[in-house]
Amino acid sequence: MLRIGVMVSGGGTNLQAILDRIDDGTLKNCEVVTVVASREGVYALERAKKRGIPAVVISRKSFDTIEEYDSVLIAHMKKFNVGLVVLAGFLSLLGEDFVKAWKNAIINIHPSLIPSFCGKGFYGIKPHQKALEYGVKVTGATVHFVEPEYDSGPIILQKAVEVHQDDTPETLQKRVMEQGEWVILSEAIRLFSQGRLSLNGRKVLISEGNNTITNEEKSDRCAGLRGDIC
Ligand code: GAR
Repeated sequence: MLRIGVMVSGGGTNLQAILDRIDDGTLKNCEVVTVVASREGVYALERAKKRGIPAVVISRKSFDTIEEYDSVLIAHMKKFNVGLVVLAGFLSLLGEDFVKAWKNAIINIHPSLIPSFCGKGFYGIKPHQKALEYGVKVTGATVHFVEPEYDSGPIILQKAVEVHQDDTPETLQKRVMEQGEWVILSEAIRLFSQGRLSLNGRKVLISEGNNTITNEEKSDRCAGLRGDIC
């Protein structure tokens, strides 16, 4: 069983998409064991509560240093024996200690095709506003491994989404979520849970599905990756 800790800062539609894929059997052997919010009052916390998932607020602002923040996050995730951390609309920057503790076992969803419209300040509606201002015809969503810089780690999956001529940032955001984010975030979790992701430098390699994979093969494929399943 892959034990997943989900970190959130907003409405939690990506969290919900993960829970729905667990419910409909697309995500097998996966469980969301804890939800961590970066601030009080976000609807994602309600979604967790409704499912009986232990949820807490751990705010960067409560700590003087990133090291203190990291150590509290690490202790929390360890307590729940988390094998994969999913940043699902999480807007605080994680420190090096946390990223090291879950090396190649933290993934983030970003609402654009990285390396476009990403980096510090590009969160929520902003990437869509900027995509429309720039006049791109295609945007999308990206799931990537996390490094201690904004939107910078190796890319696992991307999904292109068309921009329509009459889009507003809000209509574009909705299409990117529905056609992009909710689909590829769960898909990346599925691939991770099946031990099908490996790294070659910055490149993420995805191996073919194979139910008869041996433990030896699994550990080869997961070389450099961490997580219960690996
Ligand atoms: C999502 O669009 C997610 O991609 C974005 O915040 C939104 C959260 O929505 N994340 C970022 O911009 C990170 N750079 P949700 O709370 O409904 O899942």
